Amino acid sequence: MFATTLSYQKSAALPNDLFSAIQDLKRELNAVILAHYYQDPDIQDIADYLGDSLGLSQQAAQTSADVIVFAGVHFMAETAKILNPEKLVLLPDLEAGCSLADSCPPAEFAAFKAQYPDHLVISYINCTAEIKAMSDIICTSSNAVKIVNQIPANQPIIFAPDRNLGRYVMQQTGREMVLWQGSCMVHETFSEKKIVQLQVQHPEAEIIAHPECEPTVLQHAQYIGSTTALLNYAQKSDRRSFIVATESGILHQMQKAAPEKVFIPAPPLNQCACNECPHMRLNTLEKLYLAMKNRSPEITLSEEIRSAALKPIQRMLAMS
Ligand code: 13P
Ligand code: SF4
Repeated sequence: MFATTLSYQKSAALPNDLFSAIQDLKRELNAVILAHYYQDPDIQDIADYLGDSLGLSQQAAQTSADVIVFAGVHFMAETAKILNPEKLVLLPDLEAGCSLADSCPPAEFAAFKAQYPDHLVISYINCTAEIKAMSDIICTSSNAVKIVNQIPANQPIIFAPDRNLGRYVMQQTGREMVLWQGSCMVHETFSEKKIVQLQVQHPEAEIIAHPECEPTVLQHAQYIGSTTALLNYAQKSDRRSFIVATESGILHQMQKAAPEKVFIPAPPLNQCACNECPHMRLNTLEKLYLAMKNRSPEITLSEEIRSAALKPIQRMLAMS
């Protein structure tokens, strides 16, 4: 009885056609909706721009909208706010965090960094504003190799927070780097054994993987890249089927871009849905609508942290 009343009240607050209500609010607010590929398909479909972390920060850096609605996780919306202090930046669910960003607490990272005073700090964008403020250059999975290759060979480097991306960049560049031992709970969930078994069942399929995966998985991949790079590769490749080792949200765009091809999500260790990022999936179309209607929850930052975090992001944008 109580549950019925509650669900009635909840749906009564929402318009029947969420898609057109969101479009109306977009015009009213002069808002832009930026979404990551790991969002639910309906959010992907309503976004003005859909991309990987680099593409999303480039869009955030150049938008003329007054309001940025960020359908992604906290560090992504925070990056948009760092680039646009005067704009209202909304995140549909403020609890949408990131296990990788959480694996690098600022106080511990400051102590770690103090042990290597002559090192340049390159941080993956999947980190908090506090970590960005302690970094010299930010990178994403699509430009990490390119950025490290631009650093003089005699300059020692700390790479944080993702050890898997760090190891992959070391392999690709031949550079030694000091790695912070962080990781992503979603990309570390893929099972090498199950991927190999799947490859035996589908010998024609190509394994493609995100560099946040562990080396045991990456060693089987025929192609490694950011989400945008994986999407472009799958579209252009002559192959007809792919085993995809990254968050399963990307399959929606792969299937849309190449409906005649087969995309098989790489299996996680258990029978869980852990190849879906639980943080990304906290955002829903309903929460996105309510965030725009209420102009909340918004991202706020102290000016001290924001201005310190801006410099390494601007360096990244210039070096990309
Ligand atoms: P990219 O967006 O750079 O592909 O990274 C994936 C990711 O894990 C984002 O959280
Ligand atoms: Fe963070 Fe991993 Fe989720 Fe990306 S997929 S937001 S790195 S927890």
